[in-house]
Amino acid sequence: MQNPLNDKHILLGVTGSIACYKAADLASKLTQAGALVDVILTDAATRFITPLTFQSVTGRKAFADDDLWGSQGHVLHVQLGKDAELMIIAPATANTLAKLAHGLADNLLTVTALAANCPILIAPAMDGGMYQHPATQANLDILRQRGFYVAGPVSGHLASGQTGTGRMVEPVELVGYARMLLGREGSLAGSKVIVTAGGTREPIDPVRSITNRSSGKQGFALAQAAVDQGAEVILISGPVTLSTPIGAKRKNVNTTREMLDAVLAELNDSNILIMAAAAADFTLLKPAKDKIKKSEGIPTIQLTTAPDILEKVAAVKAQTGMPEITVGFAAESRDLIANAQTKLKAKKLDMIVANDISANDAGFEVDTNRVTLLYPDGASEYLPLMSKDDVAGEIIAQIASLLASKR
Ligand code: CTP
Repeated sequence: MQNPLNDKHILLGVTGSIACYKAADLASKLTQAGALVDVILTDAATRFITPLTFQSVTGRKAFADDDLWGSQGHVLHVQLGKDAELMIIAPATANTLAKLAHGLADNLLTVTALAANCPILIAPAMDGGMYQHPATQANLDILRQRGFYVAGPVSGHLASGQTGTGRMVEPVELVGYARMLLGREGSLAGSKVIVTAGGTREPIDPVRSITNRSSGKQGFALAQAAVDQGAEVILISGPVTLSTPIGAKRKNVNTTREMLDAVLAELNDSNILIMAAAAADFTLLKPAKDKIKKSEGIPTIQLTTAPDILEKVAAVKAQTGMPEITVGFAAESRDLIANAQTKLKAKKLDMIVANDISANDAGFEVDTNRVTLLYPDGASEYLPLMSKDDVAGEIIAQIASLLASKR
């Protein structure tokens, strides 16, 4: 399944802020993701960066105000506005926000924004005081009410040398917003998906814990792939440092018990549960309240079983019918398919993703995976080595068709 940016026409408006240099990176990232990126620079933007910079990264002509008065000037804005499936204005200065809020159309960018009938995402960038100014805030309120999407600004170091709120959202995050907005009509639109990711951490004492090697990468990739298909995504994550896909709502947990509670709290109105987390099977019978001191000698740690989340989910599903689709993972180091089939049945799953963790290019920590998808009717699909992002896309595509066939 391809990412939602592929072959999409994105119109990038660039206005006069020092954050223009990040806009070139954004244009490059969108292009690398497969989008067809047309760029319009305002006059002020051309003081910071040239159309040539954008042409060089997008492979397409970048437009400036001279083009508004060129031979195609009378139709250019309408054509650019009509072609665009998403318009992003990044960086968006206070001046351009004010023009957009009041319908002014005195340059190619603002006249095209009026002509466009696609979603418009704006990423403000300005000094903290300008951003806080009631005029700017009121303009942003107007734009939000009219359905514009506003990303940021975030706080941090500003060009003025001060620290405050006014920094443009980073290009990688704007790509995330673009994926979310362009994926809204995808195959999981209207569905709520819970994805669990990462390993859990069972405390021994306030300092030490038992955990496992799960990096959370496959789970986070699944959350992104579900956002790409328009799902409402709840990402329940163990303690990992990965960044949350834009559009997913993240809930952090430590222990398997906490993960169970978080899953159960979301389950009743969730259509799909994907248990990609490596939830601990064992926990401490009695974690120590205080740090265990070396001087006390070698401690004896007594374990007990942690709850089996999928088992509890099966019990809820028997009562409520939700989630409609439950997907598990089987991390195995031997007898991959046989063990996965046993888990598929025991945990009453609609699909299990079997992954061989003995290989060093698949499973834990790495960016690639090699998995087999197994179904209750005995069908199976082997996916050769590919990136975890691509594995996630394939799994989500299969889940979407399972859901469609159940309805
Ligand atoms: N799982 C779960 N609750 C647990 C442990 C695992 O719901 N306490 C889920 C995992 O998220 C995964 C599936 O069960 O989707 C299989 O996990 P795995 O660790 O492969 O198998 P276990 O059932 O724990 O069995 P074993 O460790 O004996 O292989």
